[in-house]
Amino acid sequence: MTAVIIDGKAVAEKIIAVIKAEVTTLKVKPGLAAILVGENPASKVYVDIKRKTCDEVGIYSELYKLPEQTTEKELLQLIGKLNASQKIHAILVQLPLPPQINEGKILAAVAIEKDVDGFSPENVGKLMAGKEAAVPCTPKGVIRLLEEYKIEIQGKNAVVIGRSNIVGKPVALMLLNRNATVTVCHSKTRDLKHYTRNADILVVAAGKPKLITAAMVKDGAVVIDVGINRLGDKLVGDVDFESVRMKAGYITPVPKGVGPMTVAMLIENTLERYKAIEGGRQK
Ligand code: GUN
Repeated sequence: MTAVIIDGKAVAEKIIAVIKAEVTTLKVKPGLAAILVGENPASKVYVDIKRKTCDEVGIYSELYKLPEQTTEKELLQLIGKLNASQKIHAILVQLPLPPQINEGKILAAVAIEKDVDGFSPENVGKLMAGKEAAVPCTPKGVIRLLEEYKIEIQGKNAVVIGRSNIVGKPVALMLLNRNATVTVCHSKTRDLKHYTRNADILVVAAGKPKLITAAMVKDGAVVIDVGINRLGDKLVGDVDFESVRMKAGYITPVPKGVGPMTVAMLIENTLERYKAIEGGRQK
């Protein structure tokens, strides 16, 4: 079997085009503020892509690039200012943050109605309770790809590799909320293959190049690769694409798989935050 290659780039472009058309009709433009603290090279690339996409779509954006030594107090002050800004409907604090800053405190400080990443304790709680509100962009993108390709989730064995707060845990909860039987594996899991070979849907967010080989995948499985790793001058995922595509039923490539969907879902979440706020203001 050769897998259907899930074209995340095409799906993302379609979503962005629809949003762009809607944004042109709006008198007040949606506004996104992105905060980047420090010099993490991958974060810099992601934030620049996010800002460029906002420009393309007609979303107003403010980008704050703060020095590595920024204090928690300074960051909290900026968030306070953005919480109060009429021009800003969505606030994104790029993670990871430098060690002197308490991530939990920062994420809790973002006004819930502007929490575009779904990282605030309230939104995490809602996701946990099966009442999804703002949900994190990458997990939302994974689920949207499954929906676009009409891949049923209910009743399937879904295995998630990785337990980060940004991807692994929320995607596991979203699959569970859609009635998959979910197993979460991680770096301390013994005999990973035992779990992956039983997966109808395998979501890999481990950050380990080519962790998943064909021998670890069930025939016809749906393989979603969230990894973005730099190998020399090439970007590769966590899945050995060339071997696994000969065995899987569906597979996402890296690049042009989940990556563009994360950006599309950020734009969609920005528009949702805008509607929640502006809809309220008009009443
Ligand atoms: N760091 C890696 N992925 C993300 C994301 O989706 N949002 C934020 N804020 N930080 C990240």
